[in-house]
Amino acid sequence: MAVGASVEAVVEAGGSHIPPLMAALEQRLAALAAGHGDALARHGGETIAAGGKRLRPLAVFVVAGPTAPAGGPSLLRAAAAVELVHSATLVHDDVLDGADLRRGRPTVVAAAGRRMATATGDLLFSRAFAELAANGRPDEVRVLSGASTALARGELLQRADVFASDVAVERYILRCELKTARLFEAACRLGALESRGPARGQVAELGGFGRRIGLAFQLLDDVLDVSGPAQRTGKRRGADLLDGTVTLPLILARERDPALADLDLRSVATPAQAEAVCDSIAASGALEEARRRAVELVVEAKDDIPAALPAAQRSALRLIADGVVERYS
Ligand code: IPE
Ligand code: IPE
Ligand code: MG
Ligand code: MG
Repeated sequence: MAVGASVEAVVEAGGSHIPPLMAALEQRLAALAAGHGDALARHGGETIAAGGKRLRPLAVFVVAGPTAPAGGPSLLRAAAAVELVHSATLVHDDVLDGADLRRGRPTVVAAAGRRMATATGDLLFSRAFAELAANGRPDEVRVLSGASTALARGELLQRADVFASDVAVERYILRCELKTARLFEAACRLGALESRGPARGQVAELGGFGRRIGLAFQLLDDVLDVSGPAQRTGKRRGADLLDGTVTLPLILARERDPALADLDLRSVATPAQAEAVCDSIAASGALEEARRRAVELVVEAKDDIPAALPAAQRSALRLIADGVVERYS
């Protein structure tokens, strides 16, 4: 699932410079995972090799635009660093969430235990910053370290709210901003900072675009956790419920269904129970409402694409935004 239909459309609209960059990215990621000891090669390398949509590096490339030096080492490093931070976060996130399935495979924590997963995530984080630091640009390091800090804060906020029955929508949105939207924002900012074209003067605007699509992305991810199925998402259906993570579908469903309002998430102990609660959430109409909110954010993001960018780049960015709400995994 490395390149989905919507990504292909982005590649088409964004021009011929994208496929070689995506191919170079894969090579770079594989080399980074392979060059730092057996444990990273095995666990980190498997996570990376298992694929993923590569949406964040794609955003880096599309924002940078066709005038960036093709395959230029600094652009590539920025994109690889973002994907490495993302991969590190996933490895750690699966420890925190107690998740056993990722990209259709056992998670590092399920396969090798939490100590190995914690250390693997740490190593991926450190490789990310070593990679970006090689660009010699403190402004770029600041962007990525700001996003990493936000990510950790978001995960801590999620832990603080675990099993809570009264998570407000605003607090949920703040969590999503921190743990997901800020890395999409960083991807777009880095693309703009690396650009040799008009995007260079639009760092804040493109960052705002990234933030909105990142927020929409997390809303949709939380819908997919409830809707499943695992064959499509590569993750277990109802994983958030089993873990006590309260997301927008449950918050909205609780307003609509008194049985769900009274549900203590601690009583959801088995995958079968989680699936049953997922069915109730879906029956309440909450998934459509959460999806509607995500689509609204995508519309806002598209409206905010700077007019100063060339038409082809603007349409590629619109396709990235659409891909966020059209995705199935
Ligand atoms: C998963 O991100 C983590 C979230 C922010 C929801 P992705 O869905 O982009 O993960 P991969 O890289 O495609 O597996
Ligand atoms: C996003 O939240 C996690 C990160 C930003 C790392 P989730 O916990 O919903 O992500 P998945 O569903 O495990 O991919
Ligand atoms: Mg998770
Ligand atoms: Mg999720």
